[in-house]
Amino acid sequence: MRISGSTALVTGANRGLGARLVAELLARDAATVYVGARDPESVAENIRRDPRVRVLALDVTDPASVSAAVEATRDVNLLINNAGVLGFGDVLTGDLSLFERDLQINYFGVLRVTRELLPSLRASGARGAAVVNVLTLISLAPMTTIAGYCASKAAAHSMTQALRASVRGEGIEVIGAYPGGIDTDMLAGVDMDKADPAEVAARILTGVETGQEIIWPDDASAAAGKVYLNDPVQLETMLTS
Ligand SMILES: NC(=O)c1ccc[n+]([C@@H]2O[C@H](COP(=O)([O-])OP(=O)(O)OC[C@H]3O[C@@H](n4cnc5c(N)ncnc54)[C@H](OP(=O)(O)O)[C@@H]3O)[C@@H](O)[C@H]2O)c1
Repeated sequence: MRISGSTALVTGANRGLGARLVAELLARDAATVYVGARDPESVAENIRRDPRVRVLALDVTDPASVSAAVEATRDVNLLINNAGVLGFGDVLTGDLSLFERDLQINYFGVLRVTRELLPSLRASGARGAAVVNVLTLISLAPMTTIAGYCASKAAAHSMTQALRASVRGEGIEVIGAYPGGIDTDMLAGVDMDKADPAEVAARILTGVETGQEIIWPDDASAAAGKVYLNDPVQLETMLTS
């Protein structure tokens, strides 16, 4: 679908990849960008100053917050479910409260926002509509040190597939983006190769504009994605050995 002229809502858009997605949407001439943030004051001043930007208080775990935010939007035809958290811990000893928190935000949060916004997406008509879920390569095979996070993202990956089937024929594209490591606060202190979030944001939106349902938005995920599509067990072995 076309970004130019679109009305977008990005969750978790005050920092990290979400903030870069907002900047990229504006650079590609989106008509209106709703910037969802738990704390609206945390949205950068230069973004707030853009007349196309509307900042929304939005906590994806809070049904009242989601309803109020959606009520305040009009004509959204591009939803980007970006908000996310990552807790460390392996499958045998990890803190279950962190596993639950990741599931609440990364899975139920995505599901809640998407359900609430569906009427707006369905009403998009000739403009077309899309839901972009920011998942991760490790939705598809886990890293053992962040097993709860991977499970929550695997749930969101499954939800993405189920949603795609459920709205088929309604003019709503359902897109999964599967990045590798990105250089944001989420992985601060973790020593690994990380992609530039601005580049990841640009590649996600190019994927949206070129009609891709599955987006590998950085070189590492593009390489690993090829492995996964050819042999899912090989990716599992690569990530867990
Ligand atoms: N960084 C990576 O390596 C990587 C790799 C693959 C995929 N991803 C995915 O990319 C997305 C963005 O992550 P990031 O790297 O930009 O992380 P980040 O820098 O830690 O930013 C996370 C964003 O999510 C927001 N958020 C957290 N809980 C929320 C809630 N309950 N309601 C609404 N917003 C909430 C945060 O808001 P506050 O400022 O209020 O905390 C923040 O804006 C996530 O879905 C993540 O899983 C990241």
